[in-house]
Formats: sequence, structure tokens, C-alpha cells
Amino acid sequence: MSKKKIDEISGVETTGHEWDGITELNNPLPRWWLWTMYATIVFAIGYVIYYPAIPLINEATPGLSGETNRSMLLKEMAAAKQARAGLVARVENASVDEIAGDSELRRFAISGGKSLFKVNCVQCHGSGAQGSPGYPNLNDDDWLWGGDLDSIYGTIAHGARYPHSEETRTSDMPAFGKDELLEKDQIANIAEHVLKIAGLEYDAAKEAKGAPLFAENCASCHGAEGKGNSEFGAPNLADALWLYDGTRKGIIAQINSPKQGEMPAWKARLGDVSVKQLAVYVHSLGGGQ
Ligand code: HEC
Ligand code: HEC
Repeated sequence: MSKKKIDEISGVETTGHEWDGITELNNPLPRWWLWTMYATIVFAIGYVIYYPAIPLINEATPGLSGETNRSMLLKEMAAAKQARAGLVARVENASVDEIAGDSELRRFAISGGKSLFKVNCVQCHGSGAQGSPGYPNLNDDDWLWGGDLDSIYGTIAHGARYPHSEETRTSDMPAFGKDELLEKDQIANIAEHVLKIAGLEYDAAKEAKGAPLFAENCASCHGAEGKGNSEFGAPNLADALWLYDGTRKGIIAQINSPKQGEMPAWKARLGDVSVKQLAVYVHSLGGGQ
């Protein structure tokens, strides 16, 4: 390996490698390629010095910058929290009507209320707040306890028939059958009147007997025309929307022994800001009065 070998055709020095008469020319590397490679080496050294790079047992070398993905994330989170804190404080001091009237607060409340709803409310009211028998639909315009912002706020804050809250909404439909306030045939007659109110098929002879009994026993809460009264949490019986079961059998069962739905109180559990966010969100679902 002493003497340089020169390729006869090109006049270029060869590496001395030869395969079946094909020789490898020893051309220098292109300059642009070399400089690019040197540049990447310099960059790599700089990177290792400046950023955390070399893995040690517990963590990587810290680097001059002291910045890690983690520290950057924590910084961003702190900034987001600070921005949020301003809005939280404003929500804290505003009424639900003021929140709904301010576009920035309203947006903040609805997005917060939406996530709170997913965690705390969907198991009873359904993922789209559509409800199910016994659990009211919150999208429609049919409200047990009132559909304006203040009423919705009150229901969410204190619940309904919730034994652990002193301010909970209380109003119980009497158990007319179970507590023997009415006879069995009287209840059957009233049920026909309810079917008439609801626009369903009914037995006219029985309904005629049921109508005065309704006026006497039911109108105080449900109204003379059965349109309901949110002061007593009494549903509208005149629409096609039923909290429970709108069949003859279901109506008789409810008059016999009402189910008395229980809605938990949320203010003590989630705090006032969250309840306000939820109220604005629920009101925004389309059914708010
Ligand atoms: C354990 C089941 C349950 C959970 C969880 C629950 N609710 Fe309810 N909610 C009910 C029931 C039952 C009623 C109906 C009460 C009645 O019959 O008067 C109700 C009623 C309501 C009403 C009144 C509707 C009307 O027509 O007036 C609102 C508003 C409401 N819930 C919102 C919420 C929100 C917001 C959450 C989550 C923070 C929530 N609920 C969680 C069971 C629940
Ligand atoms: C003290 C008030 C009060 C009186 C009086 C009362 N109700 Fe009710 N009624 C309610 C409340 C509150 C509810 C919702 C109750 C629940 O969650 O069990 C209700 C629910 C109902 C429902 C179920 C409606 C639905 O959408 O599923 C029917 C039907 C009904 N009442 C019929 C009657 C009839 C008939 C009478 C008279 C015999 C009567 N109520 C008397 C308060 C009253």
C-alpha cells in the first residue's frame, strides 16, 4: 500500500479497491457536503450544552437554558391559570343575568359549564341533557321549577327534595291512593281527565266525573287547566312531554304513589362559580325561558 495508483482513464487517484477491473476513485468529498456536516456537529455540541440532553440516572443533564418541556408546560399552565383567575373572579361577583349578558363571561361560563355537566350531570340527565323517565330533559321548554336563569341557578344550587340541603326545593304531590285520600274509582276518573287535558284518548263518562275531582285535588298545584306551576315543581300536564309515564297506567300509578324525584344540591359540592357556569350552560341549551 505504498504507491499511489492513478486511474488511467480519469487521471484520478484510486482508493486501491478493485472489483473485476472496476476501481474506486478517491475523489474528495464535495465541499458543500463537508461544511454541512461540520455545521451539524457544531450545532449538536451547542445543543447538548444549551438544552437538557444527556440522560443520567434520574434525569438528563440540565443544560445552560434550564428549560425542559416540563418547565415550559408548567409556565404555560401558570399563565393560563392566571388568565382564568381574572374570569373566575368576575363570575364570582356577577349575577347569572350579568354573566349571560357579557359575551366574554358567557363564553367562559358555557365552556366551563359544559365540562362540569359532563362530569356531574350526564349520569342522570343524559349526555345531551335529553333526560329519561324521571330525569327531566333540559333542552326543551318544559320546566318543573322554572326555566329563567335565576330559577335554574336555584335548582342546581340547592336541588329538589334533597335532604341534605336546607334551601332545597320542596313540594310533594300527595300519594292520593297509597294514603287513601281518594278512592280507586275516583283516581281512575281523574286519570281520564288528565288524558283529556293532555289531548289523548279518554273515556268521556269517567272524565265527566273526574273533572270536578281534578279541580278540587289537583288544580292547586297543576293549575285549573293542568298547565303546571313552577312554584310547586308541578309539571305541565297539557303538553306531550312527560316526566314519567304518560299512559293511562302511568298516570294512575303517579296519582296513587308519586315518585318524588330527587335532584342533588351542587353549591356545597362544586362551589358557587361552578353552579353559575352550569346555570348559564343549561339555560343556553335552547330551552331557557
Ligand atoms: C342523581 C341524579 C341527578 C343528577 C346527578 C343531577 N340531576 Fe338534575 N335532576 C334530577 C331529577 C330527578 C330532577 C327532577 C326533580 C323533580 O322531579 O322535581 C332534576 C332536575 C333538574 C333541573 C330542573 C329541571 C326543571 O325542569 O325544572 C335542572 C336545571 C337540573 N336538574 C340540572 C342538573 C345539573 C346542572 C346537574 C349536574 C350538576 C344535575 N342536574 C345532576 C336528577 C339529577
Ligand atoms: C302539592 C302539589 C301537587 C298536587 C296537589 C298534585 N300534584 Fe301532581 N305533581 C306534583 C309534582 C311536584 C309533580 C312532579 C313530582 C315528582 O317528581 O314526583 C307532579 C307530577 C304529576 C304527574 C306526572 C307528570 C309527568 O310529566 O310525568 C301527574 C300525571 C300528576 N302529577 C297528576 C296529578 C293529579 C291527577 C293530581 C290530583 C289528583 C295531582 N297531580 C296533584 C305536584 C302536585
